[in-house]
Amino acid sequence: MDNKKPNITALIVAAGQGERFGGSLPKQYLPLLGRPVFMWSVEAFRNHPAISDVRVVIHPDHAGLSGIENPVIGGATRQESVLKGLEAIAPSNPDYVLIHDAARPGITPELINGIIEALKTKEAAIPGLPVADTLRRSVDGTTKTESRDNLFAIQTPQGFKFKTIYDLHQKHKGQSFTDDAALCEAAGIPVTIVSGDKGNFKLTVPEDFAFMEQTLAFRCGDVRTGQGYDVHRLVTPANDLHKLKLCGITVPHDKSLEGHSDADVALHALTDALLATICDGDIGVHFSPKDARWKNADSAKFLKHAGELIAAQGGLITHVDVTIICEAPKIGPHRDKMRESIAGILSLPVSRVSVKATTTEGLGFTGRGEGIAAEAVATVRLPFTKTQGATKDDIRKWGT
Ligand code: CTP
Ligand code: MG
Repeated sequence: MDNKKPNITALIVAAGQGERFGGSLPKQYLPLLGRPVFMWSVEAFRNHPAISDVRVVIHPDHAGLSGIENPVIGGATRQESVLKGLEAIAPSNPDYVLIHDAARPGITPELINGIIEALKTKEAAIPGLPVADTLRRSVDGTTKTESRDNLFAIQTPQGFKFKTIYDLHQKHKGQSFTDDAALCEAAGIPVTIVSGDKGNFKLTVPEDFAFMEQTLAFRCGDVRTGQGYDVHRLVTPANDLHKLKLCGITVPHDKSLEGHSDADVALHALTDALLATICDGDIGVHFSPKDARWKNADSAKFLKHAGELIAAQGGLITHVDVTIICEAPKIGPHRDKMRESIAGILSLPVSRVSVKATTTEGLGFTGRGEGIAAEAVATVRLPFTKTQGATKDDIRKWGT
């Protein structure tokens, strides 16, 4: 691999029908801990700093299911789907490509690192696990032990120089190979095995699903709760710029909120709640009210950033809950739009977003209509690995 940062594209093949898995929804689109199976792989690559681009190959009948922008349409076999994917990324001519099965949502940043590291010196790198079980082959009505010496069970992502694997897939178009590394082998190119991960198994039959749920739930088992609170003053709007914004939508009202940004008090409280789950300060630390860049800024940007910081740690937002405290305007008629708006900004299903409101019975500054307050609570699951780097201070505290 060159010294300059190489251009590495991830190609995720998701164009299968999942026949062995069965069910009405193809396995790669099933919700797995609140996120479709294939999105676990998409997110793992998107959040990896060494990956420049992520492309997903889908079945032509599944366009409505994937919701992916700019998908590549696959073919009748996995090999055809990979070729279609390589053709689609050819114009950007990446240095390397990592080809991954969407049916392996248990991919980790460490696995991606391992492949990229190996590609610095090797032509082709694939993850594998030494076979641990005794192997027997059935022959003529009986069975016979096979040696498992030096045998590995192979996974994806499989990493190659882009040009090498693209040429090979074009050359062997229509022939049948068991995986992408097999094409290198046929061309006499050595294939290196790096350490695979037991949790990166392929969802093949329905029983695999519960194991995968347990694997991922345990990995992201560090459940955090964050809380946020904010208040902005209600004023008579000076101009059109200052419409009342709540939860990212404009709410018709004769007053608007005063602030440096668009003063969306609900999104500010929620941004703080999310930042709290990763102990990363508050909205003012990330977006200073003194910074001219955030003058009249759309607060959706702040919320999105908090969501991205959590994703970068491999975290998952499980649930968010916002309470808006005011006498007017009435929130009820806008509640569904507000939930959709937050869900859109954080790429969450609407079913994980709660918005509610209360008055304070005419009491206090909210009761007098001088301002609007908002409270938010966020629940996030983080991988345990991110919290294992305990300092001596932490250990001392835990020990007492
Ligand atoms: N795949 C693909 N295009 C195909 C066939 C498979 O992109 N024509 C993808 C699958 O979506 C999956 C990966 O290749 O992510 C591994 O394939 P497999 O586990 O066999 O999935 P399916 O082919 O969907 O399942 P089945 O063989 O049981 O039908
Ligand atoms: Mg298949």
